[in-house]
Amino acid sequence: MNAVAETIADAVGGSRWLRGYVRGKLGSDPVFEAGRAVVARTGGPVVDLGCGLGLFGLWLRQLEVDAVYRGCDLGRWKIEAGQRAARQLGCEDFQLRVADMTNFSLEGARTVCAFDVIHYLDAAGQALLMERLIDAARRGATVLIRTGVRGCGWRSAVTRAEEWWTRASGWIRGGKINFPRLEDLHGVFAAAGCRVEVRPLWGKTPFSSYWLEVTAPTDLPLARTWTTD
Ligand SMILES: C[S@@+](CC[C@H](N)C(=O)[O-])C[C@H]1O[C@@H](n2cnc3c(N)ncnc32)[C@H](O)[C@@H]1O
Repeated sequence: MNAVAETIADAVGGSRWLRGYVRGKLGSDPVFEAGRAVVARTGGPVVDLGCGLGLFGLWLRQLEVDAVYRGCDLGRWKIEAGQRAARQLGCEDFQLRVADMTNFSLEGARTVCAFDVIHYLDAAGQALLMERLIDAARRGATVLIRTGVRGCGWRSAVTRAEEWWTRASGWIRGGKINFPRLEDLHGVFAAAGCRVEVRPLWGKTPFSSYWLEVTAPTDLPLARTWTTD
């Protein structure tokens, strides 16, 4: 896996700091492997909302998961760097667009990803996105969400502080810092009759990151319980 992270970091290029960031992120964040395991099962097209540099798509391709991949992000330089990396690595059926996740097309998606992006939206934006995700699940997509949450004690405080730092440093510009409550997020999908699996996915980080896997409504939705302490 470290060799894969190295290859992708080299393809993204840029400053030493950026290459180090990509290598470190791919080498340590469990979201990429969690997502890969699902896409290997469910297949593409994969739509990655707020994809940043498109690292998840590059990760899939380097690990021979050949799903069609479409990502969007508001950060133009990230999209352009991801496009260059995809070209360099010979990725086909790989599209990255500068676009807003609240209206980016989910048409035909088998897997929809929203990794660490929901909290950028205000309450109305989150509600709109949830509606679209529920609709995608109803049409057969598997929806994968990873997000920091409120109400998870010291982890939530550290996550909020880190988010402030990303704004202060200029790494992320604009958007809200509006972490959802896990209960609310789960509740929206469950109320729509979706099947929702939830687990912590913070790896070795101090963040309040949870993973939700949402699929089409069934007659027997899974009942899940969790604690956030
Ligand atoms: C923390 S990064 C996560 C990037 C990527 N999902 C990953 O896991 O590597 C959050 C990204 O969401 C993007 N973003 C924020 N609001 C957005 C929006 N409304 N539409 C699309 N992208 C957005 C930011 O530009 C940033 O690149």
